[in-house]
Amino acid sequence: MLENLKQELTDQINNANSLDELQQVKVKALGKKGSITLLTKNMKDKSIEEKKILGQAVHSLKEYIEIILKQKELFLIDMKIKDDIKKDKIDIFLPGVEFHQGSLHPLTITRNEIEEFFISLGFEVARGNEIESDEYNFEKMNIPKDHPARDMQDTFYFSEEELLRTHTSPMQARIMERNAPDKPIRVIVPGKTFRRDEDDLTHSHQFMQVEGLVIDKNISLADLKGTLELFARKMFGPNTQIRFRPSYFPFTEPSVEVDVTCHICKGKGCSVCKHTGWIEILGAGQVHPNVIKNCGYDPEVYQGFAFGMGIERIAMIKYGVDDVRLFYQNNLNFLKQFDKLK
Ligand code: PHE
Repeated sequence: MLENLKQELTDQINNANSLDELQQVKVKALGKKGSITLLTKNMKDKSIEEKKILGQAVHSLKEYIEIILKQKELFLIDMKIKDDIKKDKIDIFLPGVEFHQGSLHPLTITRNEIEEFFISLGFEVARGNEIESDEYNFEKMNIPKDHPARDMQDTFYFSEEELLRTHTSPMQARIMERNAPDKPIRVIVPGKTFRRDEDDLTHSHQFMQVEGLVIDKNISLADLKGTLELFARKMFGPNTQIRFRPSYFPFTEPSVEVDVTCHICKGKGCSVCKHTGWIEILGAGQVHPNVIKNCGYDPEVYQGFAFGMGIERIAMIKYGVDDVRLFYQNNLNFLKQFDKLK
């Protein structure tokens, strides 16, 4: 009788074509009212000897059925996976997922290029704080409280003493004080600066500058000119020329404004250079003896030059950008154009 049941269940397991069908066979054999389970229940009235023989036979039948159920189950799972893969068609015309790679901001590209140039000349790069004191932003730079030059740089004040720096020049004083009285200095300081200007095509209340400072014995305006000439050629092309125009800054004497030949018209005159052939790029000069003295060097022995340029202005000239506000709006169509300039 057990042989018949064994054969019957084996056939049913072999014939099961899906995991569902197999589950039904399993319940019919091993479930609470399954054929194998019932066999053990009916043993009550048998003698001990019979119970022993039948018990062993049922047990080995149960083990056998469990093993072939498991094998069939694994087989059917495997079949199902293969079947699913076959049904799964790949649509090769489906558009791919676009992968947006970020790129450096044009102001970062320009700042990096400026830094690389000055590092190649042996300059160090220093950074300062955006919050400055009135003392360093103005007083130490030879701009006392009632000085008219304060009107040129309308200032965001936190208090009478604390402000957002209007230029990177206060770092001149901080670096000189660190190195006084006799260490030579070659440094640039890039960073954010702030002025209470109305935002328009060429003004922004927040912008970036790079300060340059050289302090040593026997430094003259010729050193400044040579340095800036190399700089202009690196930034705007090998045929670029520069010129100095007399100017005024309280912390330099003499002071100059520096122009480069217009790289669009090569000096012939066009709308970019307002038909002059020249474009102003920065302010500079010999460090004022008062500043040198204020910061702990002897102006009779040490001289130096300093310059300050707007990174936005350099980038606008270099890339032909006519509205400074474009740098801060984060319009991807604008920013993407600088992708390849990294
Ligand atoms: N600090 C000046 C400005 O912001 C620029 C400058 C720096 C001029 C150093 C001369 C020397 O306008």
